[in-house]
Amino acid sequence: MIDIHAHILPGIDDGAPDAEHSLAMARAAAAEGIRKIIATPHHANGVYTNPAGRVREAVAELNALLEREGIPLEVLPGQEIRVHNEMLDAWARGELLTLADSPYILLEMPSSRIPSKMFEWVHELRLLGLHPIIAHPERNAAIVKEPRRLGELIEAGCYGQVTTHSLLGGFGRKIEECAWTLCRSGMIQFLASDAHHLEHRGFRMKEALESLARNVEDRMQETMVRNSSNIVGDEAIIVETFSKVNVKWWRKLSNLFQ
Ligand SMILES: [Fe+2]
Repeated sequence: MIDIHAHILPGIDDGAPDAEHSLAMARAAAAEGIRKIIATPHHANGVYTNPAGRVREAVAELNALLEREGIPLEVLPGQEIRVHNEMLDAWARGELLTLADSPYILLEMPSSRIPSKMFEWVHELRLLGLHPIIAHPERNAAIVKEPRRLGELIEAGCYGQVTTHSLLGGFGRKIEECAWTLCRSGMIQFLASDAHHLEHRGFRMKEALESLARNVEDRMQETMVRNSSNIVGDEAIIVETFSKVNVKWWRKLSNLFQ
């Protein structure tokens, strides 16, 4: 199993504060059956700046530590990039990383809204041959209010990544409800932990996968696992066609928010 979104690198954002915590997270991940983690430290979010070079160095150091400690886990480079005006220039300067050097790039929107330039940025990134993945759309206030807004981004070429803790109620009832609505509506292609630390924001991948199988469809569990693996393996992402139930959900939602 691969986790495509986690803050496991030590001391560079609000995730693991030091190497000791990174190792504790790595042991917990390995115990859950996670074999690869794409490290996605915050970048350009107004608080943390972690350009590509710094992330690659930190990844190499952590992998050396994991090997020395005998922990069966590999860390791959990535970033959680806050969308911003200079993003395309930053890409041209080589400061941005995709997920594990694939064509998939993890984008974070502000939690309060969908920026007015979002579709323009997505279009430009697509022209560069990149596939944006929207990190935890269920935590965006505009999407919580109108879930179909994520559908518009998906139609523009994005994918959606739901967070384990959102599905399991860790961010409150509204976000939990939105997370399930997005999953049931076929708007989510990836499940990831967004783990920051073990105390309150650990991995919980197995728990969330089992919950998806129980509450949406059995095959959703397999699809989520395969899609994360397909990023690393450079294979096509599975986008589930809507089942009858899902089409009903979609229409109901569209009608509600028109
Ligand atoms: Fe994150």
